[in-house]
Amino acid sequence: MSDKFAGKVILITGAANGIGKGAAMTFAAAGAIVVATDLQADTSEALVNGINQAGGTGHFIAHDVSSEDAWISVIDEIKSRFGRLDIVINNAGIGFTGLVTDMELSVWQKMMAVNVDGVFLGVKHSLPLMRDTGGGSIINVSSVAGIKATANFSGYCATKAAVKSFTKSAALESAAAQDGVRINSIHPGIIDTAIWDTLIGTTEDGSNEVPRAATLGGMTAEGVPFGRPGTIQEIVNGMVWLASDESSYMTGAELVLDGGFTA
Ligand code: NAI
Repeated sequence: MSDKFAGKVILITGAANGIGKGAAMTFAAAGAIVVATDLQADTSEALVNGINQAGGTGHFIAHDVSSEDAWISVIDEIKSRFGRLDIVINNAGIGFTGLVTDMELSVWQKMMAVNVDGVFLGVKHSLPLMRDTGGGSIINVSSVAGIKATANFSGYCATKAAVKSFTKSAALESAAAQDGVRINSIHPGIIDTAIWDTLIGTTEDGSNEVPRAATLGGMTAEGVPFGRPGTIQEIVNGMVWLASDESSYMTGAELVLDGGFTA
């Protein structure tokens, strides 16, 4: 435990599971006030208890990142309850596979709504409060899929490339405004989380190994030079650095944490 983020208010979307949950626990252990939001609210009590036990102050808000009304009320609640916002991790995301010729427009639009609209709305509505309360760091979760093409994954790749590009333009606006808000994207490689269950199913033996090499072209653990998936903590470590003043000269850039996958 440390007090590295003591007194800092951090908003993490998609915090009920996976990378977002890991980030919530790590920032809590460094003393932060963690506003954890997610579409999934049924585990919120355990999540808040976990944050508090880790050494932070937890607060949960049920939140669909693709809804502008929901974003307005999340930021209003943070402003009235905590009076400031220092760090935002736009982490919520979904992915569906499928050939371009098979993909329903509704599936494409769903990915765009959560992965792209969600990040746009997060930056749009967080920035004014962050500006007014001394600046900070916004971390948009993209993917190696936003850098490297993958067959059967065009919709997801398109959303994550959009996050990368949007991040840069938004960062330039903040830099020009000298408002003290840095905005970067983080690009995890293949990480052991439940997102892979919905993408391509679990392994037959129930383990969490990234399965089915054929399904996603090269996007498998076998395609990673390190020969293994990354861990949640390996991504969270990058988020901690981007959130801290140690990355004070970095904005509009990508932090790629992928075991060499895109090298
Ligand atoms: P996960 O599926 O474990 O967690 C995603 C969370 O987002 C879930 O708690 C889910 O309820 C929430 N969510 C989904 N739709 C939402 C919405 N409309 N509003 C609010 N919350 C919503 O996935 P994981 O792996 O932790 O993913 C986190 C981020 O990392 C995503 O943006 C994902 O695309 C990205 N990523 C993941 C990689 C991986 O290999 N696991 C690789 C590269 C990027």
